[in-house]
Amino acid sequence: MKIFVVGVGYVGLVTATCFAEMGHEVTCLDIDREKINKLKRGTIPFYEPGLKELVERNQKAERLTFTTTYETLESSTLCFIAVGTPSTRSGAADLSQVDAAVNEIANHMSDYLVIVNKSTVPVGTARKVKRQIYEILAEREMEIPFDVVSSPEFLKEGSAIDDCMKPDRIIIGSESEKASLILQKLYSSFTFNHDRIIIMDIESAELTKYASNAMLATRISFMNELSALCEKVGANINHVRRGMSGDHRIGYHFLYAGAGYGGSCFPKDIRALKAMAEEYKIETPILEAIETINEKQKKQLSKKISAYFAKDGGLSGKTIAIWGLSFKPDTDDMREAPSLTLIHSLLRKGANVRLYDPVAMGNAKKLLKGESAIRFCQSEYQAAHNADAIVLVTEWKQFRFVNLKSVLNKMRGNAFFDGRNQYQPKEMATKGFCYYGIGVPPGARELLRALRSLGKKKAIHHGNPRIDSA
Ligand SMILES: NC(=O)c1ccc[n+]([C@@H]2O[C@H](COP(=O)([O-])OP(=O)(O)OC[C@H]3O[C@@H](n4cnc5c(N)ncnc54)[C@H](O)[C@@H]3O)[C@@H](O)[C@H]2O)c1
Repeated sequence: MKIFVVGVGYVGLVTATCFAEMGHEVTCLDIDREKINKLKRGTIPFYEPGLKELVERNQKAERLTFTTTYETLESSTLCFIAVGTPSTRSGAADLSQVDAAVNEIANHMSDYLVIVNKSTVPVGTARKVKRQIYEILAEREMEIPFDVVSSPEFLKEGSAIDDCMKPDRIIIGSESEKASLILQKLYSSFTFNHDRIIIMDIESAELTKYASNAMLATRISFMNELSALCEKVGANINHVRRGMSGDHRIGYHFLYAGAGYGGSCFPKDIRALKAMAEEYKIETPILEAIETINEKQKKQLSKKISAYFAKDGGLSGKTIAIWGLSFKPDTDDMREAPSLTLIHSLLRKGANVRLYDPVAMGNAKKLLKGESAIRFCQSEYQAAHNADAIVLVTEWKQFRFVNLKSVLNKMRGNAFFDGRNQYQPKEMATKGFCYYGIGVPPGARELLRALRSLGKKKAIHHGNPRIDSA
């Protein structure tokens, strides 16, 4: 099939490349000339594992081409819209990129076209798009048949190619049999071993995307809320999580306490869903709570670090190393990353920060330029140099098995704040760190420190159930 994709961001480029990999002829268009020129030269504008090789292969085979003009739209059967839908000031989805793309499509189409919206958009957008196209075709005094379909995207940055090639499900929101059949044919190669295509009405398809992200964010905020309770009552959120997960109605996935969610989707999609409900005067206390808990959680690490240094002159002049900056591992995406909330808070309190991320350093430098108290480092070890504390914010795999002895030797202090519960508290304490996780009992050294300050040194020798449970 001949496919046209508008918007070459994370979603557009990955889906276009996967379509090309399946043998289709795909043209990708973006208004960002620099991005298109770079892509033509084989430079991928963002980090996504495995994408570069796949783009190269399909470019070479001439199945994947990049452009800033709509010339090849007229010979295409399908046109995917994958432009951004960021938040407006009010939190609603900003549809200006979708509007602009639809204008161009309507002005350049010349034959039957299935317009498929992959961007995350509020319910009613597909119908609005349909009206917009009718109006433009009327102005052009042309009657061209077309269908508008909603097929929201569920890929995850960091595993986008796998998600696209082997999707859990494919949603097709359509009221046209013809369009549904074309899409089923396109997607059949992605669902070869068993059918994962779900066809539904357009409104349900549009809402399914927001509902899915809101449910995932709910699980995160729920675990974060529980983690605060764990810290107070001496329970361990990791044990609680394992105990909960055994119930197949709950399951193992997406139940981790941490530094809060970020990224280009969850925060903006929760805001947009809330805005949509407000428009219809529907109250959404759960959505309110998800956001409130997440905002609080993003500040937790900074609070813990401040409390740790409170008796030691505060954070002013202290050096804090931060490991991991992207909003999650395996991506360089820094949009609404919890690391940014932490960094700004530490800087406000007078700390110097030493930052390291395996792939997001370029984006971090752009977002944090002009800050004299920031040092960008080349490795987690370099970041640890003379640090009073280390904070792990993004759980990149390479941080799992660092040489902790060497790290500690490079540090000035020994505090370790683990924003993703990647390490064992007991082990970290044994290695000489004052360890703090999220919703886990403190390490032995921290207990010793706390007990010393209470003048109860002896108690530690009798053992402490909170240590044993770690
Ligand atoms: N990033 C994700 O993980 C993800 C996952 C699922 C769904 N989504 C949704 O998919 C959509 C795209 O997200 P993204 O992360 O790929 O965005 P992005 O910001 O990475 O990419 C958007 C691209 O669209 C281009 N663009 C903007 N206006 C345009 C226009 N008028 N014509 C042509 N190109 C235009 C931009 O230059 C940019 O390259 C959003 O609605 C998002 O919510 C994203």
